[in-house]
Amino acid sequence: MLEIKNLHARIAEDGTEILKGVNLTVKDGEVAAIMGPNGSGKSTLSYVMAGKEDYEVTEGDILFNGQSILELEPDERAAAGIFLAFQYPVEIPGVPTMNFLKAAMNSQRKARGEEEMKTPDFIKTVRGAAEKLGISMDMLKRSLNTGFSGGEKKRAEILQMSLLDPKLCVMDETDSGLDIDALKVVSEGVNALRGPDRSFLVITHYQRLLEHIVPDTVHVLYKGRIIKSGDKSLALHLEENGYADVIGEAA
Ligand SMILES: Nc1ncnc2c1ncn2[C@@H]1O[C@H](COP(=O)(O)OP(=O)(O)OP(=O)(O)O)[C@@H](O)[C@H]1O
Ligand SMILES: [Mg+2]
Repeated sequence: MLEIKNLHARIAEDGTEILKGVNLTVKDGEVAAIMGPNGSGKSTLSYVMAGKEDYEVTEGDILFNGQSILELEPDERAAAGIFLAFQYPVEIPGVPTMNFLKAAMNSQRKARGEEEMKTPDFIKTVRGAAEKLGISMDMLKRSLNTGFSGGEKKRAEILQMSLLDPKLCVMDETDSGLDIDALKVVSEGVNALRGPDRSFLVITHYQRLLEHIVPDTVHVLYKGRIIKSGDKSLALHLEENGYADVIGEAA
């Protein structure tokens, strides 16, 4: 599904290198968790995967189903089936969430050569998906993310994800700011989407999320490199011991 090979990336504006040779493989159907101290480059990795123009790749490659995505525009990456949920979702004042979802869904269908979804079908689909995530139709009439609470933004993201039917979902700190009930709702939303053809890259600081979304693999990113990989027990180890010994081992 995903192969990141010796990825180096820097901030376009000042040339500071943030990713210093990331290697990571995520298989079809795999849920991979990325952990690591603040400032390690986790969000940067998700931005680089999205194709955000603030970052430049200087070396290495990102392969999605064997094809490099580095030359693809962000919307082409999305149409290929890569979905990114960011740590800080953008607010779009003046655009009702419903309209945004419909536009996003239809632009992807178009890019895939499928027919646009008609409004009644769309509303039926959204209603079903929103209900499962505890999102009211009233919330969907409001501008995207504008004035949404932290938890509402995260739920709205999962809704978007479930509607777009992506192959690879990259989620940056989906747990931050969620109360316990919302954490469950969001995790169940993710778990419902798990399947042999869909993979997840879940960036998180806490074992708590991984109790709900149980990962197949756990990777520690530190100073722009993956310094340790393991299974879910690695997350438990980090929760109990912090990063010091893993960082020490790698040094
Ligand atoms: N556009 C930018 N301009 C300046 N510095 C940046 C930029 N993007 C990233 N950085 C720096 O790169 C480093 C990695 O940042 P990043 O947001 O990827 O860390 P992170 O692992 O996601 O941290 P956190 O756990 O706090 O979310 C940080 O030191 C950050 O300040
Ligand atoms: Mg981050």
